[in-house]
Amino acid sequence: MSNGPIEESLLPDTADLRADGVSVGGVDLRQLASTFGTPLFVYDEATLRARCREAASSFDDGVAFASKSFLCGAMARLALDEGLCVDVATGGELDIVLRSGVPASRVIMHGNNKSADEVTRAIEVGVHRLVVDNFEEIERLGALVDAQHPANVLVRVTPGVEAHTHEYVRTGQEDSKFGFSVATGDAREAITQLRAIAGLTVHGVHAHIGSQIFEFDGFRESIAVLGEFTRHDDFDELCVGGGLGVAYVEGESAPSIREWADAIRISVRAAGLPGGLRLLAEPGRAIVAQAGVTIYTVGVVKPVTQRTYMAVDGGMSDNPRPVLYGSGYEAFDVDRPLEARPQEVRLVGKHCESGDVLIDEAYLPRETNSGSLVATPVTGAYGYSMASNYNRVPRPAVVFVRDGAAREVLRRETFDDLARLEVSG
Ligand code: LLP
Repeated sequence: MSNGPIEESLLPDTADLRADGVSVGGVDLRQLASTFGTPLFVYDEATLRARCREAASSFDDGVAFASKSFLCGAMARLALDEGLCVDVATGGELDIVLRSGVPASRVIMHGNNKSADEVTRAIEVGVHRLVVDNFEEIERLGALVDAQHPANVLVRVTPGVEAHTHEYVRTGQEDSKFGFSVATGDAREAITQLRAIAGLTVHGVHAHIGSQIFEFDGFRESIAVLGEFTRHDDFDELCVGGGLGVAYVEGESAPSIREWADAIRISVRAAGLPGGLRLLAEPGRAIVAQAGVTIYTVGVVKPVTQRTYMAVDGGMSDNPRPVLYGSGYEAFDVDRPLEARPQEVRLVGKHCESGDVLIDEAYLPRETNSGSLVATPVTGAYGYSMASNYNRVPRPAVVFVRDGAAREVLRRETFDDLARLEVSG
């Protein structure tokens, strides 16, 4: 790893690095930290909008933003504004998205274990597509759907493909809890059963093979399997799920959403699928990851025999990805973004376990010390959405920045928020 200044390509599109500070969306990060406190999630609206537009123009109408990667009302509305549907995987996500004003007709409902309530609500509100995962769900649908309560579905299938990514985020392999297997005949049986339900329209198949994928072979293989499987079905939609990877650390580079879509279209043609098929996807990470930066304040700096521990005011509660997947991140000093970073530290959080590491080997300028503001780029995906209150640490605030202005879209949690769940007596 180099210890030059932070690579600008990891930052949001509008980031401006100067000798004495960094601005994103025309707003100085130091200013944001002083107004909203730290830790703080900062999202660049221009980057979010550009990625949403890229997805909307690269795929066909019905392409969705995977809200599990980062969800709040403002984000759901932004995705809708930019021409995307919103994909939800639980009743909680569905509720936030509907409350935000996104119409049900722009919502795709997922879930490998949808409860009766979740399926009922999805049918009642009339989601655009329900992605059916298992036979129990088909039984539920049979009882709920009729001419007065129609439903439009995709069938989630398991193509039997191993994506090149961390095993925890691989989903297309035969041994998966998601979807119906093509190989065992379950997927065919599911389609037969669904077609027998009056009021229900099967539009096509859906396969999500995993997440943080840089190479297209897995998608190609999956589409080849789906092509073979649906050859005689006369479906009008094919959804390849999400999964496009992003660069998190120096030296990594990822394909763009457009390149991903182009590769998928080529595979669809190669698989002999009909030209009129609506080609859909559900990117999450590729839309929100690079738009987000987390700002922390450095507290204790503790040299021990082997290394120096630098502790910040957040940690595994706002970014569990290093602990869960061994994911790498970079760090920079908000006041010195153009300086070399010769100081090697282990950037840790404030939680009560040794595994609470944000960056195993972080490089920072020599002067970075207690009181400095340190930021980690590419933290827009699966950070806030997987944040916890471990050690009763309140979740950070989230701000959107655009054209020199900041707006708070999620306020910082307070101790009162945490106490609100206590049942007295
Ligand atoms: N569609 C389905 C059905 C999914 O399960 C997922 C992600 C997506 C779309 C969006 O995938 P993306 O484009 O974001 O890769 N927490 C993990 C990632 C889990 C992904 C779960 N499913 C992480 O932080 O890496």
